[in-house]
Amino acid sequence: MALCLNQHMLSPIIFVVSVLCLLANHSIAEELPRFKHHLKPQQQSLNFLVVGDWGRKGNYNQSFVAHQMGIVGENLNIDFVISTGDNFYDDGLVGVDDPAFYESFVDIYTAPSLQKIWYSVLGNHDYRGDVEAQLSPILRQKDSRWLCLRSFILDGGIVEFFFVDTTPFVEKYFTEPEDHTYDWRGVLPRESYVAELLKNVDSALKQSNAKWKIVVGHHTIKTAGHHGNTQELEELLLPILKSNNVEAYINGHDHCLEHIIDKESGTQFFTSGGGSKAWRGDIKPWNPEELKLYHDGQGFMSVQITNTIADFVFYDVFGKVLHTWTISKEHKAAE
Ligand SMILES: *[C@@H]1O[C@H](CO)[C@@H](O)[C@H](O)[C@H]1NC(C)=O
Ligand SMILES: [Zn+2]
Repeated sequence: MALCLNQHMLSPIIFVVSVLCLLANHSIAEELPRFKHHLKPQQQSLNFLVVGDWGRKGNYNQSFVAHQMGIVGENLNIDFVISTGDNFYDDGLVGVDDPAFYESFVDIYTAPSLQKIWYSVLGNHDYRGDVEAQLSPILRQKDSRWLCLRSFILDGGIVEFFFVDTTPFVEKYFTEPEDHTYDWRGVLPRESYVAELLKNVDSALKQSNAKWKIVVGHHTIKTAGHHGNTQELEELLLPILKSNNVEAYINGHDHCLEHIIDKESGTQFFTSGGGSKAWRGDIKPWNPEELKLYHDGQGFMSVQITNTIADFVFYDVFGKVLHTWTISKEHKAAE
């Protein structure tokens, strides 16, 4: 069952009705919910922005990053935005009426070019609030751009995206929650939730005929940043990425901009977690042959994908290009 979410269908009513049908059909989630983003006739490339770790009511340069996203979004005529999670600090949303939804999202990303669908995953901070609020169709009524699900698939024609709910993978949130309260409704028991999710992602990847496969999650797999690699994802998700020829894993969680290429598999790891507060100077040693970029300030990423080429570009808080990387399908090699 596929849904078509193109520009014309941004009309809130159709959109909400579509999403409600979708949720109804997937209430006993046998497989991952699936969305479709059709390219317009003659459209050569799919263009989008990626931002993570952002919702701080405009503070910590969130508004400046949003402004630059608006400019780049306009230049690239983007199709949509991807949020890598930690959407609302510090503790997610308290409910569907939490004003933070306006203060940190609706009233911040106001540029015309950003009035596109935001395909979003949840981060660990989002799980500290009313997690179901972020997933609720009521938020989509308030702002039809908002589309947040735990795990889902986005079929963009030439590229297929697999959004994975990574927070439940991390054992320490369950065993050592410290003074945080997590909302684990819909996730317990953890072992079977994670096992089922991995099975669904693996089989969806195997069935995919897309030229490009990209997996998106909140937590890191490979990073020189503050949190380090997420061991559970390295053990459980990384083998699935490798065996299914996933080109890139895109995440947030570390508040930086980062690009690592795994020498062995050639898999690309892009961290776009610079949506607001950044952690200056917080970097661990990493093989310089693999680490192509580490920026310890705010910013975001853009991606343009055609049949044969994928262009990844990182921007800082002033919109200055920090790093670009091109993957070409013919040669399977980077520039
Ligand atoms: C905002 O960005 C500027 C320029 O990079 C930086 O000097 C400043 O420290 C940042 N402010 C915050 C609160 O991170
Ligand atoms: Zn996080």
